[in-house]
Amino acid sequence: MNSKKQATWGGRFQDLPAKKMQQFSESISFDHRLAIYDIQCSKAHSSMLLKIGLINKTEKDAIHHGLDEIEKEIKNGDFQWNIALEDVHMNIEQRLTERVPAAEKLHTARSRNDQVATDMRLFFKDAANVLTVKINGVIDSLLTLAEKYQDTYLPGYTHLQRAQPVSWAHYLLAYVESFDRDRQRLASFWNSANICPLGSGALAGSTLPIDRNETARILHFVDQDGNPRVTTNSMDAVADRDLFCDFLHLSALCANHFSRLSEDFILWSTVEFGFVKLPDAFTTGSSLMPQKKNPDAFELLRGKSSRISGHLMTLLQLTKALPLTYNRDLQDDKPPVFDSYDQLSNGLSILADLLLGCKPVKEKCAFAVSDPLLLATDLADYFVSIGIPFRKAHHLVGDLVSFSEKENIPLDKLSNEVVFQVVPEATDEWRSVFNLKRAMKKRENIGMPGPDIVKVQIKRWRDSLPSKSSNI
Ligand code: ARG
Repeated sequence: MNSKKQATWGGRFQDLPAKKMQQFSESISFDHRLAIYDIQCSKAHSSMLLKIGLINKTEKDAIHHGLDEIEKEIKNGDFQWNIALEDVHMNIEQRLTERVPAAEKLHTARSRNDQVATDMRLFFKDAANVLTVKINGVIDSLLTLAEKYQDTYLPGYTHLQRAQPVSWAHYLLAYVESFDRDRQRLASFWNSANICPLGSGALAGSTLPIDRNETARILHFVDQDGNPRVTTNSMDAVADRDLFCDFLHLSALCANHFSRLSEDFILWSTVEFGFVKLPDAFTTGSSLMPQKKNPDAFELLRGKSSRISGHLMTLLQLTKALPLTYNRDLQDDKPPVFDSYDQLSNGLSILADLLLGCKPVKEKCAFAVSDPLLLATDLADYFVSIGIPFRKAHHLVGDLVSFSEKENIPLDKLSNEVVFQVVPEATDEWRSVFNLKRAMKKRENIGMPGPDIVKVQIKRWRDSLPSKSSNI
């Protein structure tokens, strides 16, 4: 027998792969992080092989013991990864074979194709749990700020032009809604990930009498009643990367949410706005300009979101037009997933702390929100309440706005004569429209920024937070 054989698949080859090929084709540099999942899969698979009589108890125990030792080595950083063995699956199997003769039987009725699909589903389930906890952390911080700034009003914007007044609390709760949708997407993603592909083999299962339900059960791919959930088409199970795309899509959306929020805070922390002060702990200075305090954490969050969106496009391109079933292109599915996960989970942790240090500047907000034009719509609503059709009321207020601009008199300071001339039906009451408290009190309907309804929403969201960890 030729000794120049690749350790696992080398049988039909006369030569080893070129060094360049080894370097080109390895994935161990990034898939080593699947090691704990790969070990779980191998344990479950060998337990199943025992159950169906393809290995004996001594062999199964030796395999489990060997895998436990390898896991310890990996955790201690003592494990030597070898690129000649390509990936995490072959590295672990070969190390086990060096120690445990029975490991030669471990790959019975399985392929790296169903192995990697299963490892990734285990990774995804954990990732969904961790991200849910982190999103809850961000929601918690948003609620803490919202509770504190229920009575601090600022202009709400459309087209980045002053539109209508809202409270800081109502503004922050808008982001709670976005992050809550992210939580819901993660819960449904977790459910889709919770199906076991192990036993699909390379693409067509196995001729051996494997028990797929058994491995699924051991790996906790079960429904609420404890029944195993397994994939139902071996070709789809090894070729499908929809979950990867789902994960990258939900990550991109979640990152978009923190990017939009970041943009608001960057803008509002400028001298021109001055609505919020950012914490020293999450800002940086300039190496040249001594006065600078830059919103780097928010800028980095905004930047990370582009990187995370890009990863979704990578996966869509990687999988489009790929023939069934497994193709080696698919090895490159993991770096975008791992990077999106790392950037997102780190970004969410930063955001949770950063928000707690942000301080809305009450005086600046009060000054900006005192602009009577923010209540021009309320004036039109008042005219409606005294019987004027809305379209006409809109035009009449438009006339008053244009007059106030031309005469340089604030809208709420126009004389009664001017107003009565434009709107003969009006009474003195028109001026009370410009009382901000009144304006907010009028908005107590569901979904609106009135202080009482906002309090109800804050409580509802507080109650939605689990006391400790993820509730998926
Ligand atoms: N490292 C490979 C990947 O991540 C594992 C599957 C290899 N399968 C194969 N048929 N070469 O895609």
